[in-house]
Amino acid sequence: EGQGRVICIDYSSINIAKRFHIGHLSTTMIGNALYKIYEHLGYKCVGINHLGDWGTQFGKMICAYKKWGNREEVERGGIHAINDLYVRFNSEADEQMEAEAREYFRLIESGDREANELFDWFKSLTLAYVQTIYDRLHITFDSYAGERFYTDKMAPVVEELRQKGLLKESEGAQIVDLEAYGMPPCIILRSDGASLYATRDIAAAIYRKKTYDFYKCLYVVAYQQNLHFKQFFKVLELMGKEWAKDLIHVAYGMVSLEDGSMSTRKGKVVYLEDVIQKCVQKAGDIIAEKNPGLENREQIAKTVGVGAVIFGALYNNKIKDITFSYDKVLNFEGETSCYVQYTCARANSVLEKGGKGGKYSVCEVLDQEYELVKKLAEFPATLHDALEKYEPCFVARYAVDLSQLYNKFYFDCSILNAGDENIRNFRLALTEATLITLTNALKLLGIGVPEKM
Ligand code: ARG
Repeated sequence: EGQGRVICIDYSSINIAKRFHIGHLSTTMIGNALYKIYEHLGYKCVGINHLGDWGTQFGKMICAYKKWGNREEVERGGIHAINDLYVRFNSEADEQMEAEAREYFRLIESGDREANELFDWFKSLTLAYVQTIYDRLHITFDSYAGERFYTDKMAPVVEELRQKGLLKESEGAQIVDLEAYGMPPCIILRSDGASLYATRDIAAAIYRKKTYDFYKCLYVVAYQQNLHFKQFFKVLELMGKEWAKDLIHVAYGMVSLEDGSMSTRKGKVVYLEDVIQKCVQKAGDIIAEKNPGLENREQIAKTVGVGAVIFGALYNNKIKDITFSYDKVLNFEGETSCYVQYTCARANSVLEKGGKGGKYSVCEVLDQEYELVKKLAEFPATLHDALEKYEPCFVARYAVDLSQLYNKFYFDCSILNAGDENIRNFRLALTEATLITLTNALKLLGIGVPEKM
């Protein structure tokens, strides 16, 4: 299907010096799943982590570090230490510190060596930290070109906007008026000449088109930023970029926990690493109880626990706000990845006992077999639909449906003791096809499959 056409996917796109909270789970996993499904259908993907590595907050961090921090503590505490300093700045900084922070930010922008060394250091500590999370989730990116990368790529954009008569002055700032489209203006330059988030995104889109000549460029970003994307897509369209229609905001809803925690503003933040840790531990407990003799239990608990976190983020239509529940995502009989994984383990064990089965020719099939075959045949169309709507949940649902049909078949129809050799072979073939398809479905969502569970 893809014929090598290029899809840029902007996802995860973390902010430097901030920790990874559960809100980042959706963008990371939806982006990763779309990436894998596109590649599977023959597209060429470019995964971009559009780092939030630019903005006045970095001046604040340097200011806080200079006032309260020291090198050993930050080396030791890494992202946690930087984060603490930033939080402290926000609660304690007075007018003078705010002014100093602005000055530090200006120093970063003007290329001052010390300020940039500190910034680069914060950045490398953040990247080392997120890498540990990406490793657990098996996520990689093709590019980490973030906001700062576009610093020297904005002047030509501003110039082009000016030449095309799109820039207007408003209270000292340079804006593109979008009133005709029912939107507030898109601010391009502040009155002090500084660029904005949108300016960088416009420059980034132009750069991506030039560099990758994408067929589509996806932005997997929370729906809170709907207006931002609409605005800068429109600006690009007004600039005459006919490819602006190929920019797509893949919006998703919020994730919260059952106790209501999540939002940074309320202060009750849930960090993703803690959620993963807890799921792996719970998965381990359940497996120990269900199957105490199982070898390699720790590894399996990891695959099951991490899978549960990912599947939990992917099972619903992405625009819905979801409430993450440990019990729900780890319910072995529910609509979960562990249910699918368990079905795979079951199919595996059937094949282990029965072999892959030889030739068969079947003239009559039972309903359970027919339903299963029909579902297996739907897999390619499911992938296609998932991309058309940018909904990895179609694949997640499909995996659950297929598992249910297989389990019905497994309980209703004897496979190993089918009696007739022809039927036995057919049922083994169905089992193998199910295992392959479920494994592929989970793999495309970024989830592994243990052989035994
Ligand atoms: N770093 C931003 C945030 O956390 C998301 C960036 C999304 N990508 C983009 N090209 N604007 O809100």
